[in-house]
Amino acid sequence: MSQRLKDKVAVITGGANGIGKAIALRYAEEGANIAIADLNPLAETDAAIKALGRRVLSVKCDASNPSDVAAFSEKVKAAFGRCDILVNNAGIYPIKMFDEMTFEDWKKIFAINVDSGFLLAKAFVPGMKQAGWGRIINLTSTTFWLKIEGFTGYISTKAANIGFTRSLASELGKHGITVNAIAPSLVRTATTEASPLAEMFEVLPTMLQSIPRLQVPQDLIGTAAFLASDDAAFITGQTIAVDGGMVRH
Ligand SMILES: NC(=O)c1ccc[n+]([C@@H]2O[C@H](COP(=O)([O-])OP(=O)(O)OC[C@H]3O[C@@H](n4cnc5c(N)ncnc54)[C@H](O)[C@@H]3O)[C@@H](O)[C@H]2O)c1
Repeated sequence: MSQRLKDKVAVITGGANGIGKAIALRYAEEGANIAIADLNPLAETDAAIKALGRRVLSVKCDASNPSDVAAFSEKVKAAFGRCDILVNNAGIYPIKMFDEMTFEDWKKIFAINVDSGFLLAKAFVPGMKQAGWGRIINLTSTTFWLKIEGFTGYISTKAANIGFTRSLASELGKHGITVNAIAPSLVRTATTEASPLAEMFEVLPTMLQSIPRLQVPQDLIGTAAFLASDDAAFITGQTIAVDGGMVRH
């Protein structure tokens, strides 16, 4: 395995499980130390990172809560001194028709899927600017380009992730910081397996993807590592669909 991220410090929200965990392990394999902010930190994820010879800081943190994020960023700075790579991955994808959605539902999904990225960037961009180097990677979704019912809240937040990516990239490029987004298709995780989305595991890849198999978190980690590395130093403001050829944009 190449060591493109050797001694970098990567912060990953929602890194205990699912896509975030897969990215954390790949970053550790490529030499990064890892800080995870997760509602439910998992000892087995921490152990897997340590087994790769890297340091891990795992903190119980609601990434949508300003005081939790402030406490987390202090811990990261105390443990590692800085954050070089920020992956805004924590997210939820409840399915609810617009008629059934309350304003509370709307505010909750925006808090977790959108506010979290703002809070984490606020915490770590000043240090990246000081270092003259940084990477921010936001997880969006191909649902943004699709006709799907029951996802008005979710797709609205994933559109906001793309807007945040584009606009922040415009301001941070001059500081050596790139900001990009990754848009997966439907991915098998413990959460999607336990949700009604599992009913689409067979049909969706064959109907909508050029590569007709169900996506797994490992399909995303090469792109996540590339975007975090110096190899991607001149790519910013982009949303890269890593989706087996589902959407073209
Ligand atoms: N799984 C998919 O099909 C899919 C497709 C496209 C995009 N995405 C996006 O990828 C990201 C990760 O999805 P996943 O399927 O791996 O999710 P997941 O549910 O498998 O894992 C999410 C992790 O985030 C944590 N988390 C949830 N809310 C949090 C909060 N408020 N603060 C801190 N941590 C929190 C959870 O504890 C969990 O460890 C999300 O942004 C999601 O929108 C997922």
